[in-house]
Amino acid sequence: MDDLNLLNPERVLLSVMLDDDGWRGISPEEALSLCEWEDQAIVAGAAHGLQNHGLIQIEERENEYYYLEAEGEKAIVEGLLELRLWNWMNEQSPPTMANLQLYHEKYEVGPGLGLLKKLGVTIEGGVLKWEGTEKIREEIKLREWFLQTLQSVANSEYDNNQSNPEEAFDPDRWSDMVEHFSTRKNFIRKVVRTERTYTLDEKAIDLDRSSLHVVNLVTDITPELLQSDAWKEAEFRAFDVTLDASTPRTGRSHPMQALIERIRSVFLEMGFSELVDDYVQSAGWNMDALFIPQDHPAREMQDTFYLDEPATLPLPNDLMDTWKAIHEHGGETGSSGWGGSFSNETAQRPLLRTHTTVNTIQYLAQHPHDACRVFSVDRVFRKEAIDRTHLPEFHQIEGIIMEDGANLQMLVTTLKTFYAKMGLPEVRVRPAYFPYTEPSLEIEVKWRGKWLELGGAGIFRPEVTEPLGISSPVLAWGMGLERLAMLVLGLDDIRQLYISDLEWLRQQPIL
Ligand code: PHE
Repeated sequence: MDDLNLLNPERVLLSVMLDDDGWRGISPEEALSLCEWEDQAIVAGAAHGLQNHGLIQIEERENEYYYLEAEGEKAIVEGLLELRLWNWMNEQSPPTMANLQLYHEKYEVGPGLGLLKKLGVTIEGGVLKWEGTEKIREEIKLREWFLQTLQSVANSEYDNNQSNPEEAFDPDRWSDMVEHFSTRKNFIRKVVRTERTYTLDEKAIDLDRSSLHVVNLVTDITPELLQSDAWKEAEFRAFDVTLDASTPRTGRSHPMQALIERIRSVFLEMGFSELVDDYVQSAGWNMDALFIPQDHPAREMQDTFYLDEPATLPLPNDLMDTWKAIHEHGGETGSSGWGGSFSNETAQRPLLRTHTTVNTIQYLAQHPHDACRVFSVDRVFRKEAIDRTHLPEFHQIEGIIMEDGANLQMLVTTLKTFYAKMGLPEVRVRPAYFPYTEPSLEIEVKWRGKWLELGGAGIFRPEVTEPLGISSPVLAWGMGLERLAMLVLGLDDIRQLYISDLEWLRQQPIL
């Protein structure tokens, strides 16, 4: 018996059932009073527990009950309409339609006549006639009695099992009455209730009664319990590991933030340091320093967010002179440049950075001679129409390696290592074009059997590095973070990342 590990309420219920009518069967209401509990939920819980242990059986039945509604209550106070008319008719000689209308409310005459006709009353020459007085009287009396029975039952707050009003009636007549009053509006209401009977199972015969004493079941192992000797005597509640449990709702990072953190730790692990810089930049650093021609289509208003305030971001003249020379004729790099004439005004236009390469190039300008590995994960802006794969505001994962002997092989290996650490082992590169790198690459990763483009990379051209006094090769790349997030989270719409859909957010995997 001990290994059954019954809970206290189960022990109590089982005890009272063994002492009382458990073999015949008791209702939950009886169980409640026998156990001297106050809450039906405890009865139900204990009964289910005992049922699971095979010690009792729970039988369920659906029973129908009828209650009086407003019209029914009114009929009890005022008398049923057909009864009142019937009494009146029997006092008249003869009962005429004219008098019926004269002495009764208009709203009662119509329905009243309807009821009387159904009882067999007819109208001949303006006079009410009928046959079978006894039968009519009987029927009306039965109706009155039915309603009164329902009322007395409601008043006595009857126990369903004890006084079933149906028993007072011949069952055929009972169902006739139910049928009749169901057709009259607001007279009676039907309630279906599930009723249960708890009956001891044979298995309970072998019970060792002494094991049913109420014990202090320990559900929580506390330091206090362990410090005292109380645990030696205690009985422990066994955990049911098969039960459903709710998922705790704890605070957590947004999946994008979590992904950024993971990227950060991957780069830090690979020996990179992080660079953080402003969104607002000059076109000069964003484009001219990167040898993007001033008439390049990407520089147009429809692709780039330019700022009205401030109207200009002043740049040092000697810097602009160097860019001018490079752009117009290649400066001292041996390049022939783009030709045309370079505009300082264009270079000094403020904009929202269109790529984070604007930051790495400035970092190089400040540290032209020190070998470095730098990365950033930050926000960039482009005038894109929002759709499934585009946002006007998104993030780039940017990086550079500057050191003597750095080469294309090293660039590809670094990118492959990064993606492998992010859980995407299949990476390939394809030739591409950027004005500031040579050679230039496109990086693709394999996702669900398809190659997807995630970013660009290359080795900075001399037109970019030489004016800054850099002599070592610079490997550079820039990749979309949201695209990567779509892969990692399995999304087919980029916008999902920025909809504050709490349910979706809660379900995202921990990255
Ligand atoms: N800046 C490029 C872009 O925004 C990516 C890139 C960075 C390409 C560095 C080459 C080198 O797509």
